[in-house]
Amino acid sequence: MLEVRNLYAGYGGSRVLNGVSLTVNAGEVVSLLGRNGCGRSTLLKALMGELPAHGSVFFQGHSILGLPSHRIARLGMGHVPEQRDIFPSLTVQQNLDMGRKPRQEKGRWLQEELLTRFPVLARRLDVPGGVLSGGEQQLLSLCRSLMGDPTLLLVDEPTEGLAPALVEDIAALLQEVAQRGCAVLLVEQRLAFALRISARLYVMGHGEIVFSGNPQSLQQAPQVRSEWLQV
Ligand SMILES: Nc1ncnc2c1ncn2[C@@H]1O[C@H](COP(=O)(O)OP(=O)(O)OP(=O)(O)O)[C@@H](O)[C@H]1O
Ligand SMILES: [Mg+2]
Repeated sequence: MLEVRNLYAGYGGSRVLNGVSLTVNAGEVVSLLGRNGCGRSTLLKALMGELPAHGSVFFQGHSILGLPSHRIARLGMGHVPEQRDIFPSLTVQQNLDMGRKPRQEKGRWLQEELLTRFPVLARRLDVPGGVLSGGEQQLLSLCRSLMGDPTLLLVDEPTEGLAPALVEDIAALLQEVAQRGCAVLLVEQRLAFALRISARLYVMGHGEIVFSGNPQSLQQAPQVRSEWLQV
């Protein structure tokens, strides 16, 4: 589904990614972990075509490096960035509508089922998005992305600022997203959350992947956790 090889990217003169390689398969939740500032969000932005980058990125067989973001999105890559990118003056309903596929075909997600999972949004369809709490805006941003029926979802710290009950709902949702055949690349700060829902995990440090493996192998690697994860 996604194959990244030797990806380099950064901001102006400062390089952040120093040759990152990773893969994400359909039906998998894969987590990307690391300390603050290690380049996780930068990687998602580079995949989405928002930063100049070199190396190679294949998405569903297409070489996408250098394509503009809107083309990458149209190929089926969804990005829920860490800063909530909802439209604050549009209502919750209008925000969800903005995420919908332009084509008429039915996606994997119906608005009704998302609203059943998240009554906090269902109750507030007519209020401006900007009125929601930070966590609720994050949730809206995730639901809006699903309305576009991505085949790969890049999701950046979706549980930040959420009440514990909602964190559980997000865990269940991301697992269901994968079960429906979508690939999920999750940037997460909460190690326990990532270990619980991921098929595989990568740890980044110094702009490179310093560990890759399944939850069990990360649990059995205390030196990786102490060197690259704990702050
Ligand atoms: N727009 C930007 N311009 C210049 N430098 C940036 C920009 N965004 C991030 N950086 C720098 O790039 C590095 C990686 O940042 P990035 O946002 O990818 O980290 P991260 O792993 O997502 O961590 P966190 O989300 O916890 O801050 C940091 O040193 C950061 O200061
Ligand atoms: Mg980040």
